[in-house]
Amino acid sequence: MVGVVSQQLPRPSKTYLGKGKLEEIKTLKGELHYQTVIVDDELTPSQQRVLEDRLKTKVIDRTALILDVFASRARTREGRLQVELAQHEYLLPRLAGQWKHLERLGGGIGTRGPGESQLETDRRLVRSKIHRLKQEIEDVRTHRNLYREDRRRRGLPVVALVGYTNSGKSTLLNTLTGAGVLAADKLFATLDPVTRRWHVDPLGQVLLTDTVGFIQKLPAILVAAFRATLEELTDADLLLHVVDVVHPNAPEHVEEVQKILGELGLSEKPAIVILNKMDLFPSNGSAPSNGTDKSNGASGPDWWDMPEDMVAVSALKGTGLPNLRKLISTKLTTPAAVA
Ligand code: GTP
Repeated sequence: MVGVVSQQLPRPSKTYLGKGKLEEIKTLKGELHYQTVIVDDELTPSQQRVLEDRLKTKVIDRTALILDVFASRARTREGRLQVELAQHEYLLPRLAGQWKHLERLGGGIGTRGPGESQLETDRRLVRSKIHRLKQEIEDVRTHRNLYREDRRRRGLPVVALVGYTNSGKSTLLNTLTGAGVLAADKLFATLDPVTRRWHVDPLGQVLLTDTVGFIQKLPAILVAAFRATLEELTDADLLLHVVDVVHPNAPEHVEEVQKILGELGLSEKPAIVILNKMDLFPSNGSAPSNGTDKSNGASGPDWWDMPEDMVAVSALKGTGLPNLRKLISTKLTTPAAVA
């Protein structure tokens, strides 16, 4: 990223930004030599077209950016199908702009039905692709339900890691199970759930599952793709809500995760909050090694005031994990936890 500009407008205009701001961004091109402008908001197809036209540069909005990241990270079949579906739904209202120049040339390609313009043909093709993708997703779901049923029969408790993107879920899964899951300092490094067997003393085997990171202001078109990856949470016996304690927006992230869990009907699931990255937490310059679950009287950051059980750890350095194991065992053996 070479630069950031911002503007507050009561309402975005036809060009999304005001005239002066557009000029400013144009001028910056000479200095910064940027090749793409990314708008941290959802643009209408026409706003995007007008912006590209005025700035003479590729413009992508927040949705397109997140879609790109989702596409590069999707691993399971359902994840990939959901992303492809979202890409086509995103494309459909944007086809008009893409064909304008070709229509002016009067060109046509063989797939056209009688009396159809190229734009109409393309819309028809994209719509039928959307229809096919939805059917495929249904098929994959049916299969997955069979697999879940099988897992339920095997009777291992399921523990799921949830949390804001980049909070350290994959790192924790790795540290706890030695699983070798991609842990990258990139947003949404995990799109699809990853599940590993894990031995928790004295409880025995559990299934520990990683999930896609949550974010604020998720574009509506991506909600289904995001939720599909969280479907497994319904089966979880215990949620581990991982929080990056040193992130400046940690309280908002916690709130957002809890809001989404509520929307998914999961507010009542037994949960443990894990305050992660304690190695970076500036309390006396040192990381607490014995955890901070409320029962032992210790405390987390100032903003913390939640009813859930909590443990402070460093997934990276491996501190606080015995306390976490103990708490998980307790939670899973209390009758309310395992239904
Ligand atoms: P998404 O896949 O985006 O949801 O991310 P995630 O929650 O799985 O986070 P991930 O495990 O990929 O970690 C994100 C970054 O935080 C990586 O650079 C990790 O090395 C770093 N990290 C994770 N845990 C700790 C920790 O305890 N201490 C420190 N200092 N860094 C950590």
